[in-house]
This record gives sequence, structure tokens and C-alpha cells, in this order.
Amino acid sequence: MARILTGIQSSGKPHLGNLLGAILPAIALSKEQHNDSFFFIADLHSLTTIKDPGLRKENINSVAAAWIACGFDTKKNTFYRQSKVPEVCELAWILNCFTPFPMLANAHSFKDKSDKLSNVNAGLFVYPVLMAADILLYDADIVPVGKDQKQHLEMTRDLGITFNKKFGDTFVIPDPQINSQMEIIPGIDGKKMSKSYGNTIDIFQSDKKLRKNIMSIQTDSLALEAPKNPSTCNVFKLYELLGSQKEIQTLRKSYLGGNYGYGHAKQELFELIVKIFAKERSTYNELISHPESLEKMLNEGEKKASKIARYVLSRVKSKVGF
Ligand code: TYM
Repeated sequence: MARILTGIQSSGKPHLGNLLGAILPAIALSKEQHNDSFFFIADLHSLTTIKDPGLRKENINSVAAAWIACGFDTKKNTFYRQSKVPEVCELAWILNCFTPFPMLANAHSFKDKSDKLSNVNAGLFVYPVLMAADILLYDADIVPVGKDQKQHLEMTRDLGITFNKKFGDTFVIPDPQINSQMEIIPGIDGKKMSKSYGNTIDIFQSDKKLRKNIMSIQTDSLALEAPKNPSTCNVFKLYELLGSQKEIQTLRKSYLGGNYGYGHAKQELFELIVKIFAKERSTYNELISHPESLEKMLNEGEKKASKIARYVLSRVKSKVGF
């Protein structure tokens, strides 16, 4: 049996990058009979950037609804809000006191965020330590994530290994699982899809908005008649991640043949997304209009998560002499 653990920040509605990079691969792992999965909403992490309480609540429901709409079975597994198991903050503090300052100062995500944000708070700096605590607190074996989280996983492993060397076996050392085809999902401008770049595709919005979203994918300005290169086109790159081999080959032929515009390709991508995510989109919308059902699932999961968190934290505290 392997323990699978992963989290999504409640900093917005989950987008196609979150789905393909983390949510769907994690759910596939959770369906394997012998796996025991801990999937959560990283609402404490979202406080580093989101300060509006109403918006945070809305985002928490969105992330929770996305997990369930994509097929997460909360009876077999453990589903929770990070903030409802406060042991994670105690463990994060202990780990902070064993984290070398340069490790955090050199973190890519910190450098990236601190270059862009006007308000750089201390939470952003120690973000990776809270993430390490998320993982180490539950004895996770495997952490399915997108490639942007690779360095955070390396830090988690470093912190766990260093602690184990000093105090004897305490933490389970996790392995990241990064799906090679879904490492970095591109956004509508071809850069990594990210809430902070404003280039996301939100599959859970209405058909009309989703179509508009897809129509805004950036392309070159070749004329309709001109043959087009599929391998440099943002629309094709996304289609390739979602379509069947047959569908991909058909679209490739249309690109190479000419007399086929980017507008046509975007329409095909829109129709494909609507087709493959039909069930997820309708379940998501149902759940969002009945958040009480999400609350009930989360409450049950939080009881299960708390038990394990208390057990692992007491193991750590006894090692450091508390
Ligand atoms: P977050 O909320 O930014 O993203 C959630 C997950 O989605 C993946 N992802 C992507 N994958 C491929 N292509 C993309 N364009 C893309 N954008 C996002 C991310 O890699 C991630 O797996 N720090 C984490 C949340 C977190 C966490 C944890 C994850 C907190 N504690 C413990 C795992 C374990 C984050 O900000 O993810």
C-alpha cells in the first residue's frame, strides 16, 4: 500500500493546468486498490496572496468541488482543508528551525513571486516549509504534482532526510510523481498556465465563457489559406494533450493542408473540452450550488486527517525533546 498525498491552493478556481498536472493523475492513483490517498485544499498557503475572507471561502468551495467532480472518492480516502488540522503549523515551526536560510532564499518560486508582487510577506518565504509539513505530517510515500513543484519536493526530502539523520528514523521520505506528458501545461499565451499569469483555461465556466476563453488563445497571424505548423501552435499543443490519437491526426492533417484557420482549430478544442469534461462540469456546478454537501465530506475527512496528524506530530515532538 502506498500513501498518496497532494494539495491545491485555494487561490482561484482550479484550471486546466491543475487538472491535467495534478488533480487527474492523483485521482487515477487514488483509484488503485491498495493506495490510500490524502487530498487537500491548501487554504493556509492561499493566505500568502489572498487576503479577502469571502474570496477565500469561495475558492475553498471551488477547489473542493473540483476534487469531487473529477471523481475523488472521499469514503475510501481522506479529504480535508489544511487549516482544519492545525498540527501542520506546529510541525512547520519545528521544521523552520531546521531549515537553512539559503535554501529558502534560493527557491525558484519565491524569487519568481517576490519579483512580481508588491507585497512580499514572510509567509511567501517560508511557503516551502509549510508544504514540507503538509507532506511529512501524513507519512506520504508519493506526491503527484506538476513540474513547478519539483523543487519544493526536493526541499521536503532534504528536510526529512536531515531530520532523520540527526534524530533517527522519524519521517517517511516521499517521492514526487510528475507525469512526463503533463509536466507543464501551457496557458493561452503559451507560457506555463498559472493563475498568477492570468492565462488560464477554466473548464468549469459556462459554455459561452469557456468558448470565449479558448478563442483568446494566442496564435500567429498566418492567412486562412496557408498551411500551418502544428508543433508551434498553442491550440494544437492543448488539443494534443486531450484528444485521441485519431482526433490528433485529423487535426494535424487540417493544419498541414491549409485552408484551415486557427478559429476552426479553437472551435474543435472547445468542443473536445466540452465533450470530455461533460460529467465533471455538470457535477462541479451542482456541488457549487450545494456547498453543504462539500462541508459534510470535508468534516468527515478532517476527523480522519487529525488522528494521523496528532500521531505523527507527537512522534516528532518527542524526538526534539518536547
Ligand atoms: P498550485 O495550487 O499552484 O497547483 C496545484 C497543482 O497543479 C499543478 N499545476 C500544473 N501542472 C502542470 N502545468 C501547469 N501549468 C500547472 N499549474 C499548476 C501544480 O504543480 C500542483 O501540483 N504548493 C502547491 C500546493 C501544495 C501542495 C502541498 C502540493 C501545498 N502543499 C503538498 C503537494 C503537496 C501549489 O501551489 O500548487
